[in-house]
Amino acid sequence: MILSQATASGKVILFGEHAVVYQRPALAAPVTQVKAMATLQTNEATDDFTIFAPDLNQHYRLQDVDQTNPIAVIIHATFQHLSQPIPPSVQLKISSNIPLGRGLGSGAAVSAAIARAIANVCKHQLPPHALSSLVYQVERLHHGTPSGIDNTVIAFEQPVYFIKHQPLRRLNVQRPFHLVIADTGVVAPTHQAVSGVRHRWQANRHRYETCFDQIGRLTEKARDIIEQEQADDALLGQLMDENQTILETIGVSSPDLQRLIGVARVNGALGAKLSGAGHGGTMIALAASQTAATDIADALSGAGAVGVITTIIN
Ligand code: MEV
Repeated sequence: MILSQATASGKVILFGEHAVVYQRPALAAPVTQVKAMATLQTNEATDDFTIFAPDLNQHYRLQDVDQTNPIAVIIHATFQHLSQPIPPSVQLKISSNIPLGRGLGSGAAVSAAIARAIANVCKHQLPPHALSSLVYQVERLHHGTPSGIDNTVIAFEQPVYFIKHQPLRRLNVQRPFHLVIADTGVVAPTHQAVSGVRHRWQANRHRYETCFDQIGRLTEKARDIIEQEQADDALLGQLMDENQTILETIGVSSPDLQRLIGVARVNGALGAKLSGAGHGGTMIALAASQTAATDIADALSGAGAVGVITTIIN
C-alpha cells in the first residue's frame, strides 16, 4: 500500500556557477521537465526500513548502509527533524529521470523528494527553508563546499537570485525566455570541479578573485535584464557568452561542452554557456522563440547531445 509520494524538480544554473561558492551572486531556476520521485509503501515482507532504487538496480536495508550514504543521511535527518521514529516494514522507492552528475541537481532533487515524502507520511509540514537546510546537509557531505544554490532552488521551486548565506531573493522574470538544455553525456562530479577551482584559486588568488568579480558583475547585469520590463534577449545572450569565456579561463569547460556551445551558437542561439559544475554535464542556450529553441535543440541532438530539453524560464 502506498503511504505517500512526493517529487522534486531538477534545476539549471543560468549565471554565476563556481563564483557563487566564493560569495558572488548566481541565478538559477527549476527545470520541471525532469523530476525525482520518492514513494513510501508498506512492506509486510520485512520488519526493516528498506530502500529500492530500480533505476540503479539497488535494494538494501537502511541499517546495512554506511551512515554517510546520501540516502541514509536524508532519511535520518528528516525523521530526526520531525522528531519521529523510523517506521518498520516500510519501503522507500526512489526513481528519477534527472541524469546523474550532469549539473541538473539530481542528488539534491532525490534528497528533496525523499524528505517531502517522509514529511507527508508523518503528516508534518516541511516549509521550503527547512527542506532546503535538510538537503544542504547531504550536499555538504558530498560536495565539500557547496554554495547551497542547488538545495535552495529545488526546495523553493522558483527562479532565484542567490548569494551564499544571504536571505533568498526571488528572481522576478518579467518576460519568460526560452532555454535549450543539452547534456554532453559526460558524468562530471561536482565536488571534483569545485575542488579543482579551489586548488587553482589557492595557487593564484588574485587572478581567480578577479574572474569571480567579473562573473558577479555579469550575473547582476543578467538579473537586471531579466527583471526589466523591456526585452533585451540579445544582451542576455551576450552575457551568457561572456560568462562562458570566464568559465573557460577558470578551467571548468571541456571540449564536449565547447563543441555543443559552438553548435548552439551557429544554429541561432543568442548565447550559450555551460551550466553547473562543468568538465562535462550540461550546457544551456538562449533562444529567441519556441521555433528557434526547437531548431537549436534539433541541431544539438544531431551533434550528439544525449538529452535535450527545451524549457521556458518564467
Ligand atoms: C553546482 O550546481 C554549482 C557550483 O557552483 C557549486 C555550488 O554552487 O555549490 C559549481
